[in-house]
Amino acid sequence: MQILETSRLLLREFCRDDDAALARVISDPETMRFYPAPFDRAGVEEWIERNMRRYAESGHGLWGMVLKSNGELIGDCGVTIQNVGGVSELEVGYHVRRDLWGQGLATEAARACRDYGFIRLSAERIISLIRSENIASRPVAEKNGMEIWKEAMHYNLLHLVYCVRRERPRLSHLTSE
Ligand SMILES: CC(C)(COP(=O)(O)OP(=O)(O)OC[C@H]1O[C@@H](n2cnc3c(N)ncnc32)[C@H](O)[C@@H]1OP(=O)(O)O)[C@@H](O)C(=O)NCCC(=O)NCCS
Repeated sequence: MQILETSRLLLREFCRDDDAALARVISDPETMRFYPAPFDRAGVEEWIERNMRRYAESGHGLWGMVLKSNGELIGDCGVTIQNVGGVSELEVGYHVRRDLWGQGLATEAARACRDYGFIRLSAERIISLIRSENIASRPVAEKNGMEIWKEAMHYNLLHLVYCVRRERPRLSHLTSE
């Protein structure tokens, strides 16, 4: 099922047939440098199953990122619920196939997912959990309107918690007249 469309990308639900294309993304040791290990084939299949469960349970998850120009699945981006210090937070996450880095694709997808979180899910705030050493991911969060909110342990690793909050109408505009 297609979820979002941007100028160059479609975000759609993963299906089991995506395993080979997804492996080119999350089995790449360089792409998964900030994870405990790149995913083997069983891990790729479990990744797809986990996101299919998320779609069924909550209607969202990490979606497949498809390049409109050629129909190829080249990464993932989406919204997932993450437990941060005992609180459930809506997170935007993303991974892009390495040969396509630096073209603004993660930023384009992440912005669409942020808007989905605010508009479709009525989120008050949206986060991205990023290791401080991940200098490729931090600018994507910043271009998504996020700032560092705090630090938190996540899967036993210290992460920066980037956050963007829903804009609220400013009453001061009304009372200052
Ligand atoms: C993080 C990642 C998704 C970025 O994808 P991308 O499509 O290359 O990102 P964008 O092209 O949208 O880049 C956004 C900004 O980040 C900057 N950036 C990207 N990679 C960078 C790097 N290695 N070093 C410094 N800046 C970088 C870009 O220059 C761009 O800023 P600019 O427009 O001012 O030039 C990609 O590097 C990736 O898949 N990394 C591995 C997986 C990962 O770490 N995911 C995030 C987990 S928190």
